[in-house]
Amino acid sequence: MDAREEIKSRLAVEDVVGWYLEVKRAGRNLKALSPFTSERTPSLMISPDKQMWYDFSSNQGGDIFTFVMKIEGFSFPEALEFLAGKAGVDLAKYGRATGGKELTEKRLRLLNCLKMATKYFQIVMTKTPAAMDYVFYKRNMNRATVQDFKIGYASDEKDGLKKFLLGKGFAEETLREAGLLNRFGGDLFRERMMISLMDGSGEVIGYTGRTIAVVSELDKKLGKNEGPKYLNTPATLLYDKTRHIFGLSQAKTAIRESGFCVIVEGNMDVISSHQAGYRMAVATAGTAMTKQHLSSLAKLTTDIRLAYDGDKAGREATERAVEIASEIGLSLTIVDDYMGAKDADELIQRGAALWGEAIAHPKPAVEWILEKYKAGLDLKSPVGKKNYSDVATRLIEKLQDPVEKEHYMKLVAHEIDASTDAMSKKMAMVSGKAASRVRRPRLQDHLEKMSKITDLELLSVIRQMMSVLIIFYNLGEKLDNSENKAYNELNVLRFGGENRYGNFEKEDLEIEFRNLVQKAKLITAKNHQKDWQNLLKIAEERGDVAMTGEILGKLNNLMRSKNGER
Ligand code: UTP
Ligand code: MN
Repeated sequence: MDAREEIKSRLAVEDVVGWYLEVKRAGRNLKALSPFTSERTPSLMISPDKQMWYDFSSNQGGDIFTFVMKIEGFSFPEALEFLAGKAGVDLAKYGRATGGKELTEKRLRLLNCLKMATKYFQIVMTKTPAAMDYVFYKRNMNRATVQDFKIGYASDEKDGLKKFLLGKGFAEETLREAGLLNRFGGDLFRERMMISLMDGSGEVIGYTGRTIAVVSELDKKLGKNEGPKYLNTPATLLYDKTRHIFGLSQAKTAIRESGFCVIVEGNMDVISSHQAGYRMAVATAGTAMTKQHLSSLAKLTTDIRLAYDGDKAGREATERAVEIASEIGLSLTIVDDYMGAKDADELIQRGAALWGEAIAHPKPAVEWILEKYKAGLDLKSPVGKKNYSDVATRLIEKLQDPVEKEHYMKLVAHEIDASTDAMSKKMAMVSGKAASRVRRPRLQDHLEKMSKITDLELLSVIRQMMSVLIIFYNLGEKLDNSENKAYNELNVLRFGGENRYGNFEKEDLEIEFRNLVQKAKLITAKNHQKDWQNLLKIAEERGDVAMTGEILGKLNNLMRSKNGER
């Protein structure tokens, strides 16, 4: 057995996918929401029998290696190393150099450097009374929390950390690449409580440092200040703020178990929430929420509750997040009852149960937005009523659930003192077209969908069809050879093909087959046409009249066959 097979024999595909996605049973197979597209119904199939996965929404599939390559953005050697670690397989035994690639080596170097830096910050903290006082008393962290979030302290020395790491044999270059130095070559973080930023598996990839400096009024007058409240590691090979989710490695289990996740605004809000026992909290600390943030959370749960601060900046960030979420087909709920507290941390300091209560009753984003629309309008005037019901109807029309829809219609009707009948009429005007659509038979649906896909996707469907035909004519038997890479690929295809075409009637299958052959011909012709056009250019440049004539003839034939003439 080679390393690859040894790892495969130890890790089940459903478990590997389950590290990232919420997996649900569906008969013999399992299903999950595709992490590669935004969708509401799960179309990523996992077959425990075949140890394969296939994602119908993006037409790709494979084994555990291809899955982590796709979802983590790994190259194959990186995926091998990652999964070997998880499976407890020693790659050296198989003659595989671990971290053969330069990049992998660099990653390891930076990770080791940060591991050592974290230890340094932890030790410095225990030796600095002011830091201990800030962490344990001013921020009320307990020992477990300090360990869990790898809290430490960077002193006010110019280059304490740098000297320590150079002494441990790290190159200055490595310190710089890890984001630990400022532009003068000294320590970037000074006089700050250090909060470690970790990747999904809990490895430190950077820091956010909160100043604990106290600058006297006199010093301030003399132009001294404590710098920004929070300072983050700049973008490095390991840390990308547009993707990083603070607290995710600590929150994963709780998110899976509770079935929901709470996004708060700051790191301290996350830390306090975890300490209070609500470990499903995360933050996109230090930066605005991006699509990447939301879609990687959506892989764990679709019940995402937004709990930003109640101030103007928090409200604006909430609005943006709701917009981003709707772009990727997610509906958020909003926690906005802070009972006058400034942020989650402050509310938790007053009482953990208050926070528990707040996140248990989030408002649907619809309700939250409706309240905002309302704020600027006079709901007593006819114009106000019309404007409010206009935006509200458009918003409500998009809701999937009929009961929820009715609920908001009644709510809005009540608010503008209109009859539900009038609201229903307005709704009918907006949604009239959508409702009159009729259900078509399976093949029709399929063909309609197929008419919109790209050539590349079509080729993959054609290959799926071929694999179905191969099963149909029992060709699989003759190809059975588990050492054969082509056969493995065929199996992936077959898995996809069975799911796409397995329920088709024989007649429909034949129609679809002919249809695909026709399309395959067209694609081939298109490609040929490009080849000939290139040749034509070359022939013309060379002034080769005979060849130019010949190619023009070929191109003419291609055009004619494309237009249906033979
Ligand atoms: P806040 O100013 O609301 O801070 O910034 P906070 O979380 O309440 O912090 P404490 O309680 O005073 O310690 C919210 C978030 O914005 C980012 C940080 O991620 C912070 O948690 N921020 C804030 C920065 O990145 N830099 C700053 O200078 C300030
Ligand atoms: Mn705060």
